[in-house]
Amino acid sequence: MTILLATTSQHKAGEIAAMLSGVPDLQLQTLNDFPATEAPEEDGATMADNARIKAEFYSQHFGVRVLADDSGLEVDALNGEPGVHSARWSEGSDSDRMLAILDRMIDVPVEERGARYRCTLCLATPDGIEWEAEGVCEGEIALEARGTGGFGYDPIFGITLATGADSEYVGKTGGEVSPEVKATVSHRARAVRQFVEYLKTR
Ligand code: IMP
Repeated sequence: MTILLATTSQHKAGEIAAMLSGVPDLQLQTLNDFPATEAPEEDGATMADNARIKAEFYSQHFGVRVLADDSGLEVDALNGEPGVHSARWSEGSDSDRMLAILDRMIDVPVEERGARYRCTLCLATPDGIEWEAEGVCEGEIALEARGTGGFGYDPIFGITLATGADSEYVGKTGGEVSPEVKATVSHRARAVRQFVEYLKTR
């Protein structure tokens, strides 16, 4: 099977491609394999809506099977923000957005700093949606940014027991662990594992 992996983030595409690298008879394409086209407006109310919008748009446009994702960080103390708006929640860079979250949470005690990453995946063909699922990775917002690994909000995403990582990583941030550790517990890994199971049923 050939699938166009329709994510515009190199980092996310790399993570998903690495997790799918062992799947037999699966060829991945990226948007770079197709003529440049305008991206659809990601104006869905939820991450699942946005993954659908992207999967349906690119599969109709190029006439191929497409796997699209949408993801984001939900912070309990901020009523689930930045959520579906994670990529553009506030002005500036990823690190400006991390600082904005830390700033808004300056008075929030450790036990109320719960947060989770969510990743939704949608597989579509020109005939419609074929499969969809989501993965969640629980954690907490750290008191300060630590580490340079990962991307986006990783340096402020604290790993807890609920994350499901080995206990030696509890207390570290997503910026402080290796890509291998992230690949076992992340929201994206959890969603992609369901995709691998789906492929086995076809
Ligand atoms: P998307 O491209 O609309 O899915 O935007 C997702 C945004 O959520 C990214 O720009 C990041 O800010 C954040 N995000 C999603 N997944 C991760 C992750 O694994 N680590 C750090 N930030 C993430």
